[in-house]
Amino acid sequence: MQQAEQIALSERMLHFKATGTQTMADDVFTNPVSIYTDQAYFQRERELFFRQMPLFMGLSNRIPNPGDYFTNNFTGQPILIMRGEKGEVNAFLNVCRHRGTRLMEDECGAGKRRFSCPYHGWTYDTAGSLVNIPQEEKFGAVNKAELALTRLPVAEKYGLIFVRPVPGAPIDIDRQLGGLAPEFAAYGFDTYHHHRSVTVKHDFNWKIVQDTFLEIYHLPVLHRTTVNPIVDSSLYAFDPYDLNLRFAIPRRNFEKIAEQPPQDRKFLPHLAIVYLLFPNTTFIWQGTHAEAWTAYPDKDNIDKTVIEFTQFTPQAATTDSARRFYDRNFDVAIATVEKEDFPMSEFLNAGFFTGAQKEVIYGRNEPALQYYHETLRRAMKGLNY
Ligand code: FES
Ligand SMILES: [Fe+2]
Repeated sequence: MQQAEQIALSERMLHFKATGTQTMADDVFTNPVSIYTDQAYFQRERELFFRQMPLFMGLSNRIPNPGDYFTNNFTGQPILIMRGEKGEVNAFLNVCRHRGTRLMEDECGAGKRRFSCPYHGWTYDTAGSLVNIPQEEKFGAVNKAELALTRLPVAEKYGLIFVRPVPGAPIDIDRQLGGLAPEFAAYGFDTYHHHRSVTVKHDFNWKIVQDTFLEIYHLPVLHRTTVNPIVDSSLYAFDPYDLNLRFAIPRRNFEKIAEQPPQDRKFLPHLAIVYLLFPNTTFIWQGTHAEAWTAYPDKDNIDKTVIEFTQFTPQAATTDSARRFYDRNFDVAIATVEKEDFPMSEFLNAGFFTGAQKEVIYGRNEPALQYYHETLRRAMKGLNY
């Protein structure tokens, strides 16, 4: 976040404190429960959001050097993302062009220049070109140039990597970020490290992961003894950014910075900032590091979700104390969400199928949640991103 934006946000929160206000929506917002239970609606979401749309797939440093790669099987499309010889990022369908088996089965790897299929050994390079067919003379004549891995649109900027899970139009990250580009550029995520990831599965609709993170109304109740003592959710500042959104809440010590002249204020360490990178990632600035919670429907199940939680750190944790610090933050974050948020999410998802209600209600104090669902509605009518 740029310094000017930090100053503006700090002024806004000090004003909230002085006046007892926060960002509010104009009205309450109702959403039909069917967006979580209707199969046809779900199938359209899968097509629009998990095939057609560019998705956030991680930070650049997950694959710092040529030949570094990672796979992603969560969208329903097997995806292979790798750093090419010139430092560019390439993305492919992770499907061997011989008979179509999965080329790379592991989650990630480093410095690999040749990718050999585990079935018959066809081999590709980091540009996806087919470079070797075992026993080529016996196999028969094929045009190797036409048998490269199938490319997927991929873009890398500000340290963020986005991939479209099906072949199609190139990705414009600036447009995708919807006005958040200067802010993401200012963080310097291009030098951040991918510290740790974990994947968990739960019995609820994929949207409920974002629902969990996009309101702070539950902090004084559900997180009474965990998150609530750390942040002041009454000073909530929300802003929309096209498909995406941002809200910020300060840590409880933030008023100390008001004693400094505005131009000297270093506000970022005192903030928790939550971004929604549409449609399925909540990206959180935590004051000392960042994290992402990305949700995917678990295969064809409307009520099952795979969640990938990743922690990004400003430097590689090379000392024991740095490792302990980041690991403790990682463990506390996943434990809090697993013990406090996701059990609620499973109950409310089950509740949707009971017939208890036709609608759910988002309050005036939940503007980010309202905006996310307004955007989903808009996107379900079709978008070109
Ligand atoms: S399927 Fe890959 S080499 Fe045969
Ligand atoms: Fe929560």
